Amino acid sequence: MTGQLPSAEVFIATSLDGYIARPDGDILWLTGRPVPEGEDFGYAAFLDGVGAMVMGRESFEKVLTFPDWPYKTPVVVLSRTPERVVVPEALKASVRVSGQSPVKVLEMLGAEGVTRVYIDGGQTIRSFLAEGLVRRTIVTLIPVLLGQGRPLWGHGAGDVDLTLVAARSWDNGFVQVEYLA
Ligand SMILES: NC(=O)c1ccc[n+]([C@@H]2O[C@H](COP(=O)([O-])OP(=O)(O)OC[C@H]3O[C@@H](n4cnc5c(N)ncnc54)[C@H](OP(=O)(O)O)[C@@H]3O)[C@@H](O)[C@H]2O)c1
Repeated sequence: MTGQLPSAEVFIATSLDGYIARPDGDILWLTGRPVPEGEDFGYAAFLDGVGAMVMGRESFEKVLTFPDWPYKTPVVVLSRTPERVVVPEALKASVRVSGQSPVKVLEMLGAEGVTRVYIDGGQTIRSFLAEGLVRRTIVTLIPVLLGQGRPLWGHGAGDVDLTLVAARSWDNGFVQVEYLA
């Protein structure tokens, strides 16, 4: 069954101690960090390759605070109370909200012809991991220990064995690891 589903893929940055945001959701420790001129760590190429994105409601609300909506791909926002999630009028053509399970969301996107799906948000990624659905994982490790925050890891289910595809590093201390499951 899962063989027919789109490939669920993660591209995310974490502190070395595994957090994606501070407890209050702040990501300035990441976005405010100097990076080599013109370097995007492969993000644009990754985004170009996916046909849709699934993000958690918390990540959606964070992205809504950015000056511009950054995504050209269709987005599914996951929430257990989808009727409560407000989508701005300008995004209604490309953003829908769903309370379906990870596998159902992937089935829906697969039926629409999508072959690769970008999964974003810590809780959301963990719920896909818990169902064994994540096929590709790219994590950029940021050289900071936050000590506390919103975790990426801890899906609370069985082992997910991974095969290392690539490891890259940059002079500013970012290290990126890419795995297939
Ligand atoms: N470091 C990075 O690269 C990076 C990347 C992305 C996000 N972030 C940051 O991470 C924070 C958000 O991550 P997060 O882990 O707190 O939350 P998240 O995964 O973005 O959103 C969590 C919410 O998504 C919904 N949800 C998740 N899984 C679901 C499922 N299986 N079924 C139905 N609904 C589901 C629930 O919404 P309801 O509560 O509405 O039910 C849940 O409360 C933000 O601060 C964001 O800026 C950082």
